[in-house]
Amino acid sequence: MDILIGLQWGDEGKGKIIDLMSRDYDIIARFNGGANAGHSIYHHGERITLKLLPSGIFYAHIDNIIGSAVVIDPLALKSEIDLVETLVQDSLENRIFISKKAHLVLPTQRYWDIFLEESPRYPSIGTTKNGIGPSYAHKALRQNVRAGDIHSARFGEHVYHILSRQYDELEVLGQSMPPLEKLYRNFMEACEFMQKLQIIDTEIFLNQALSTNKKVLAEGAQATFLDIDHGTYPYVTSSNTIASAACVSLGVSPKLVNRIYGITKAYCTRVGNGIFPTEISDPAASDLREKGNEFGSNTKRPRRVGWLDLPALRYAVMLNGVTDLVLTKADILNGMATVPVCTDYDIQGNKTALASLAFAGADVQPIWKFLPGWNDTKCEISDPTTLPEELRAFVSFLEEDLNVPVKYLSVGPLREQLITLAH
Ligand code: GDP
Ligand code: IMO
Ligand code: MG
Repeated sequence: MDILIGLQWGDEGKGKIIDLMSRDYDIIARFNGGANAGHSIYHHGERITLKLLPSGIFYAHIDNIIGSAVVIDPLALKSEIDLVETLVQDSLENRIFISKKAHLVLPTQRYWDIFLEESPRYPSIGTTKNGIGPSYAHKALRQNVRAGDIHSARFGEHVYHILSRQYDELEVLGQSMPPLEKLYRNFMEACEFMQKLQIIDTEIFLNQALSTNKKVLAEGAQATFLDIDHGTYPYVTSSNTIASAACVSLGVSPKLVNRIYGITKAYCTRVGNGIFPTEISDPAASDLREKGNEFGSNTKRPRRVGWLDLPALRYAVMLNGVTDLVLTKADILNGMATVPVCTDYDIQGNKTALASLAFAGADVQPIWKFLPGWNDTKCEISDPTTLPEELRAFVSFLEEDLNVPVKYLSVGPLREQLITLAH
């Protein structure tokens, strides 16, 4: 099994790269998060943003797995499947396999998320308000409903019991919501739709596939610095996002992991609150945001932007055990005379080359290096030697610093805008 994860704060281009890599795999298995993700893929010239479906969904030969640590909003899943089925003019039922153990996001959990974000008594994390945190919290409290419960005779009763309890709690807190019966009806309708899908022991399916030499790629959502344990807590998501989490969620032993692809943009972005040492301010920020179209794929929020952060990237490479790098959005920096890169932090007078950002404060000051910029990333896709010399030097600089080869260089959002670098 191979794994692909984000090395920054998300939106590195995972969707585009996994869509392309799917040509070489039999199975794509999403292992964390929920409908908070937004993985963009250009399919026949149209941009599609996947939230829950694995990014191999556009290939007929791919089996798509949703693993046990994913939290599934049945309504979001239904509308996503409807959309993709319309686009591919085919039924997806036979190609989607959902772990029985995956937890469902209840409509009341969305309102918990909204309540926690909007109440002045709680810190605002800047979540996507998809109910992700409350769903994982209720999982830990052992109060959730799982996908495997859907076929049970008393499923409706079970859901109603939990939903009405959460509804009452939220009402006491003053959260406004649509009527309970309406939330229940819509949720049950989407669950009925889910009954048609294959809700199985995905860990058995995957291990049997691996034992017959099928190729599996585990797809991460969010990214390293949003990891609940290792990220910039409390400004994180509520799941484990790093490579080792793929094994837990998918029920595949670490001894079966082969390549670990780590993906980074040529600069940095972040949506939501929390530390961002290399963040830049206007007018440079607006310029980079516009050029890079850095607006949330999911929530449309403007993304915060900044330059590449090597102390953080070195840490992410270490934490994930990255074997291959993927560098995206190099084209967005076209035309810059020099490209700023943070090589170290100055933390109260101490030069720091490798940093966990988990307890970092405002005293983290970037130390900059300015690398020569490049003019154009257009080149013969089959021939990386036609890339501008400065961009090749930028890639070599990263490879030497991180001691990991760059396998893919992405120079645009479209499928064909990808260069495989030979080593
Ligand atoms: P993900 O969450 O990691 O899948 O990334 P998103 O899809 O949320 O955000 C990445 C955005 O950048 C999407 O709009 C992609 O279409 C786009 N994109 C991906 N790779 C490249 C690239 O190399 N260059 C440019 N210009 N856009 C890219
Ligand atoms: P992909 O997979 C970028 C951020 C939110 C917020 C924090 C917590 O597309 O890279 P949550 O809704 O998860 O409780 O929000 O995490 N966040 C993301 N940022 N890309 C994502 O996913 C994200 N998923 C969550 O903005 O700061
Ligand atoms: Mg995204």
